This record gives sequence, structure tokens and C-alpha cells, in this order.
Amino acid sequence: MSKRIIILDVGDTHAGSEYGLLHPETVLERERQDGIIEKYNPTLTEIQKFLFHDIYRPFVQEIMEFAGTDDVIVIHKGDVTQGNKYSEELFSPRLSDQITIAIKNMSEILQYPNVRIFRMIKGTSSHSFQEGSSDKLVANSLRLMYPEIDIAVQYHGLYTIQSVDTLIDASHHGPSAGSRKWLEGNNFRYYLRDIMIREMLKGNKPPDIISRAHSHTPVEEYLSINDNRTWGFISPAMQFPTGYARQVVSSLFEITMGMLAIEVVLHDNGRKTIYPFWHTKKLDIRTKEIL
Ligand SMILES: [Fe+2]
Ligand SMILES: [Fe+2]
Repeated sequence: MSKRIIILDVGDTHAGSEYGLLHPETVLERERQDGIIEKYNPTLTEIQKFLFHDIYRPFVQEIMEFAGTDDVIVIHKGDVTQGNKYSEELFSPRLSDQITIAIKNMSEILQYPNVRIFRMIKGTSSHSFQEGSSDKLVANSLRLMYPEIDIAVQYHGLYTIQSVDTLIDASHHGPSAGSRKWLEGNNFRYYLRDIMIREMLKGNKPPDIISRAHSHTPVEEYLSINDNRTWGFISPAMQFPTGYARQVVSSLFEITMGMLAIEVVLHDNGRKTIYPFWHTKKLDIRTKEIL
């Protein structure tokens, strides 16, 4: 009987950013003039509506249906909150608000009974109130909400998925996607080849899947050396670019947001197929005018 699992691979959700993921049913608190503490659902910006209703919810639903009765392993690859080191484009600078938003964001995935394992990868320190603090706080609450799910936080995971004989290497930081269209993926290919050769020199089998985030730009590469095959993925962000991000990419006009899922099937004959499903939206973010 063949075995199958689905890996839901998401990252850079940046809760607390005006441009980050915000679940519309998030409940926050504010104080009224009469001292009463009222609960409210935050109003989503157009960008946040787009992220949630055009990308996040429909793709999560699609993948959970596609998984059927098979297990789903969820990997969130860092920057689960925006942090408050930089004040620009913050929806809320409050640690408590950002954690509440991040928990609700992740609940959209963890509510499905297929989810057995959830790994949170620590991202960039300035986005997590230093050294993955956000990830730990979010994980602590999610463990209470979903005691049946195995939840852990770490910097760099190396996961052996025994049921499908698959090795996954996941971390936040990796190479950039490439500064020119014709260079896209080149750095990542060198990076993947380096990891594969390092492992082979040690007598190890290289990971089947190497997954990174941080650069907010999607890349997919596939390499084979002798009989070893490795898929590499850099996931796009679930955040619209901030002013800082626009600066870093030298005003690149074309951006991609989204996430991916990877189907792994170990067939009866011992052969394995790995197949990625992307759900991305490409936008031209220039302000267009006819003057
Ligand atoms: Fe990020
Ligand atoms: Fe990052």
C-alpha cells in the first residue's frame, strides 16, 4: 500500500504589520471611555483582505481537501510576527496584539483534523521580539488549543518523515532569489549543491527537500547528483512589501505573495514522487496614472 503525506509550507506571515496576514475573526481588546473593555474584530486593509481571502483561506481549504484522509505536516518558516523594532507600517506595536493575531492566523490551518505535526522555524530576530520569542509564545498557546498536534519551535529543522522515507531540511534564512530576472535561482542552485555535496562527503544521503524563506520571493529548483535528488523551495511571503522591503529590492515593481504545499508519495515499488503545489499571486505594485 503506497504512503502519502502533504507538507504545507508557509512563512513570513508578519502578524502585526499593516501589510501582513490578519485573520478577520481575530479578537482584540480596547478600552472605552467608560472604562469597559470591549472586544472587537480588527478591520482588514484591502491588502490584508487580499492576503486572507485570495491566498490564505482558499489555498488552505484546497490543500486540506486534496490531502483527504492523509496526514498534513505544517511548517511555518519564520517571521510569524512583525515585531516592533521598526515602527513603519505597523498595525499594532503591542507584543500581545501581534501574538494574538499570529495565533489566529495559524489556527486557520491547525483547525483541520489532518494536521498532526506543526513546526515553527524561528525567523529574523527583529521580527520576533528577539530570538524567536514570538514563535515560542504562539506555540505555547497553540499547544493548549490543539493538544493532539505535536508542536515545536526551532531554528533549523532536519526532519525524517519515516512513513514516506523523506528527509526535509527547513530554516528561515537562505540565499536571495537573485537580483536580475536571468539570475533567478542561480544562488539557490549553488546553495543546494553545496548542501548536497557536504552531506555526500560525510556519507549521508542529502535531504529530499530543502526549504527556506526570508527573501519573500519564490524559487523552485531541482538538482540531482548521482542517485541523489533534492528539491529546493524558497517560499514567498504572506506580506505586501513595506517601504524597507521596496528599498532592499531596489524598487522592484513585480512582487509575488503566496505559499506552497508539497505532496510526497512513497509507492508500493519503493519509488518516491515529490510534487509541489504553489498558490501565488503576482502583482505590479507601481501606481499607474495617465497624466
Ligand atoms: Fe520576512
Ligand atoms: Fe526574515
